[in-house]
Amino acid sequence: MSLLIKNGEIVTASERYVADIYCEKETISRIDKNISPPVGAEVVDASGHYVFPGFIDPHVHIYLPFMGTFAKDTHETASKAALIGGTTSYIEMICPGRTEKPLEAFELWMGRAVGKSACDFSFHMGVSRYDAQAERDFREIVRRGVSSFKVFLAYKGALGVSDEELYKTLSLARELGVITTAHCENADLVLGLQTKLLAEGKTGPEYHYWSRPPVVEAEGVHHLMTFAEMTGAAVYIVHLSCEEALQEALRASIRGARVWIETLIQYLLLDKTDAEKPDFEGAKYVMSPPLREKRNQEVLWNGLRKGLVSTLASDHAPFDFKTQKKMGEEDFTKIPNGIPSLEDRVNLYFTYGVKRNRIDLHQFVHTASTAAAKIFGLFPRKGTIQPGADADLVVYDPAYRGKISGTAQHMNLDYSAFEGVKIEGRAHVVTVRGKVAARNGKFVGEAGRGQFLRREAGVY
Ligand code: URP
Ligand code: ZN
Ligand code: ZN
Repeated sequence: MSLLIKNGEIVTASERYVADIYCEKETISRIDKNISPPVGAEVVDASGHYVFPGFIDPHVHIYLPFMGTFAKDTHETASKAALIGGTTSYIEMICPGRTEKPLEAFELWMGRAVGKSACDFSFHMGVSRYDAQAERDFREIVRRGVSSFKVFLAYKGALGVSDEELYKTLSLARELGVITTAHCENADLVLGLQTKLLAEGKTGPEYHYWSRPPVVEAEGVHHLMTFAEMTGAAVYIVHLSCEEALQEALRASIRGARVWIETLIQYLLLDKTDAEKPDFEGAKYVMSPPLREKRNQEVLWNGLRKGLVSTLASDHAPFDFKTQKKMGEEDFTKIPNGIPSLEDRVNLYFTYGVKRNRIDLHQFVHTASTAAAKIFGLFPRKGTIQPGADADLVVYDPAYRGKISGTAQHMNLDYSAFEGVKIEGRAHVVTVRGKVAARNGKFVGEAGRGQFLRREAGVY
């Protein structure tokens, strides 16, 4: 099995040049000018196209029991959508409930991905309680190649952890040398504000924002940073949405805290007014932290451009509008949180980032691929183009013009939050470990070929 990508403009986080890429079996074996096609090699003409390293989505939900329902995608549907959109690896959150055993949850989530996903995958291990049994399980899960934890400071009574559990989790993470990813919102403030709003008869999706204003997120970040500084643990703030939260993270970073920051494509392109759309349409845009005032978008773009924000993820959380979002018709606190964007993340980021000169090509690759590979222990196997790396490549057509459509998408959902939004660029050919998996918006790969990516501890 060999593959030759000819005449593409290779773009990594630090380099840009025209060359051919020869891949043998699953890895890149040679990069050079004018490589003659060896006998039997599959040849892809990449003239006029960029060749990017496979994009990595460090924050997705696929199997997700949440708010009384289950996310709609499976690894079959999600991985196909990911590949069509240029994402060749993703990291899913394992989210066990408080009464579930962590190791059983790990095996459950693993069982749902192995032999099903067409792209490579890894997990963040969710910590929703901490006792002696759970700690034994966490140590075993880390030994099995999951070198990151996930904690929710929000979702009190469900997935959220107490301060005692947070302290113990970060202490263990520090001991094992793993990074802890965290959803930062003050759960008690959310609960108090939700109760007050509902008592005032404010039940529509537009009030979701007011139950989680920026200060609630900023306090969550400050809270996490206090615990990170006290334990010396490395932390990664997921889905940071606003300037107030960014300020808190940066203040701690200046003091010496080991912190990385992720934002989402949703926060760059959608805003608070989307969740205010009439006739319950706003429910499509309910996520936590909520979509913010538009002024925050420039702050986040600046953060990505200047390297203050490390990664751009999707937080793919697929809940149908007609059946699942509707569960909150009478009460916004019952609307399943999340906006799906796994399939569209890369094209939207390219269009509204690179094409609008908000970020350059290297910043694009860095924040949508390389940084996630480095932070989560996948580099240089993933996240770059060099001999020895996995042959995960995206031959990208910057001349493509199209529009996002919920009916044409491959995510298993009845709507798109980006309906009708123009895109200027699309993956022409996507490869995973040397095999073509998607071509011009169609999945042409092998279901179930995706591999679990073991990630070693001891890095942090
Ligand atoms: O609203 C969101 N972000 N939903 C998915 C679950 C989470 O909090 O990441
Ligand atoms: Zn979250
Ligand atoms: Zn999430």
